[in-house]
Amino acid sequence: MSFAFLRAAGAALTLGVSTMLNPVLAGEIVDPHSHANSSEVRSTHLALDLDVDFATSRLKGRVEIRFERLKADADRLVLDSRALDVQAAEASADGKTWTATRFVLGDNDAVLGQALTVTLPPQATRVRIRYATRPEAFGLQWLKAAQTAGKKQPFLFSQSQAIHARSWIPLQDSPAVRTTYEARVKTPKGLRAVMSAEMSDAPDAAGYWTFKMPQPIPSYLIAIAVGDLAFQSTGPRTGVYAEPATLKAAAWEFADTETTVALCEKLFGPYRWGRYDLLVLPPSFPYGGMENPRLTFVTPTIITGDRQLVSLIAHELAHSWSGNLVTNATWEDFWLNEGFTEYLTFRLTEAQFGKARGDMERVIGVAELREALAQAASDEDRKLKRGFPSRDPDEVFSSIPYQRGALFLVYLESKFGREAFDAFLRGWFDSHAFQSATSEQFLAYLDERLLKTRPGAVTPAQIDAWVSQPAMPSDAVYAVSDGLTQVDAARDRWLAGQTPITAMGAGQWTVHQWEHFFEGFPKTVTAAQLKELDAAFKLTGSGNAIIASHWYALAVGSGQVAMVLPAMTEYLGRVGRMKLISPIYRALATTDAGRVQARALFAKLGPGYHPIAQQAVERILKGS
Ligand code: BES
Ligand code: ZN
Repeated sequence: MSFAFLRAAGAALTLGVSTMLNPVLAGEIVDPHSHANSSEVRSTHLALDLDVDFATSRLKGRVEIRFERLKADADRLVLDSRALDVQAAEASADGKTWTATRFVLGDNDAVLGQALTVTLPPQATRVRIRYATRPEAFGLQWLKAAQTAGKKQPFLFSQSQAIHARSWIPLQDSPAVRTTYEARVKTPKGLRAVMSAEMSDAPDAAGYWTFKMPQPIPSYLIAIAVGDLAFQSTGPRTGVYAEPATLKAAAWEFADTETTVALCEKLFGPYRWGRYDLLVLPPSFPYGGMENPRLTFVTPTIITGDRQLVSLIAHELAHSWSGNLVTNATWEDFWLNEGFTEYLTFRLTEAQFGKARGDMERVIGVAELREALAQAASDEDRKLKRGFPSRDPDEVFSSIPYQRGALFLVYLESKFGREAFDAFLRGWFDSHAFQSATSEQFLAYLDERLLKTRPGAVTPAQIDAWVSQPAMPSDAVYAVSDGLTQVDAARDRWLAGQTPITAMGAGQWTVHQWEHFFEGFPKTVTAAQLKELDAAFKLTGSGNAIIASHWYALAVGSGQVAMVLPAMTEYLGRVGRMKLISPIYRALATTDAGRVQARALFAKLGPGYHPIAQQAVERILKGS
């Protein structure tokens, strides 16, 4: 992207940003990852009515979609869908009288799924679709009781980001479209349903749990989970939902969440979603966390008993501003969500736990960025604003939009000062609240509201280098962490045989220091060195899932699979968080023999992974 668009928008800019027409609201944005005709007809509200059937692993019911017409004579509503059994469509002008209407499912596209085109009678203001999901729905995982903490009840959860909402609801599945929603959900007796919405504490007389999301949100934030769930409050606005077996440890681990919310408000403006609760998922949850509004979904692998990994909660909470309040209009603008969120997270960690811990997380982020830049498939993927129209957002996912995006904001902060930058950021959130935005919109706003306040401080060429060039700009501002520099020195002295393992001081290390310890390793070490590490620190079978992941990947990469195999197999069969299991499969896949072994492991363990994680591992193992 160049600054050409700024010149093109010059007339509008001279009138001031606030009068600029928002291209997303005007329906001018084409989302390459959606079939929806949202520039003609745009959904405004969804009403879901679902039965959760564990016996057949299906959600069964219907969705009512209310919409507005941007084009007065629009005669069809095009929705996204993937592997849905669609049974009927009806249309209504008033929500009382419904008449059957035609619907057609288009050809399946491997990335986008099937367009579902519903014919709209001229007076229609809403349609209603009766459907069922299939057991293989990509955005859902149906867990057997054995895969839960309690081992007695089954569990269901959704993961809609990036384009999986369409696999459990037929809808306009684009982040450029925001809707409010309500839902009724029937569960088997003894199981509770929760959603990313205001919730009831008990089912109604008919056995339905009811939900209401009054703020307009993009489809990727619609979320549901069903299981044996209990709740514990951690503050007036915060609390934790988890299986009874996990609840106490979770509530202790996340006890500081209320403070983080207050801090976030001080820095970035009011929290606009009412409550902020956490839902602890079973360990097959494919991500660390997911910022579903009012109810962040989180992996149990961050419950370590020392509150060291709670910055993940800060990250998901920060999305209540960067993402849920101001959303990327398409997945090509993903850095507007994740880069901003990482920046806010650094600020929160620093304010809550001090600069030393904040700097550690920044340095670890830079290490992740370097790794991701090295692994990126193409120069296009190294840019902040990425173009990948026909590829799957899951496949393009990497740390680049996160860490490069955060460093871009760190750079701007360094040029304009923290006070001015904070005011600018807050203005961005306030002025675009409950909207979706493109990179171009942000850059125009940046130019108008920040760059112009000090002409020449940052040039268009410098902005272009950050956003549209593959190489990292040479003037990026990197943090330094004494605590991690010490780890580097200790590791390197020991690897060089200069000091005994006991002199590393590892007994005092935090999990961040352990992460850094492993990230700085050569990819392979000797069997003797591995044995010495394991004997000193009991890494095989470590209860800390993050340390265990690094350890198994290092052992495998060093050709010592046998040393860790039983414990590693247990681990890969229990944990499904992609960030933790992918490096192990990747390390195995670097040799032919290892790939054969990885395929055998995956054949056995893969069925327990979330469909998104299964696909990620399949991609790693697909090389010949
Ligand atoms: N929204 C993301 C997770 C996500 C991204 C899901 C893209 C699907 C597609 C979430 O906020 C996130 O970034 N989670 C991170 C943790 C964070 C501390 C970097 C994760 O899961 O590792
Ligand atoms: Zn995030």
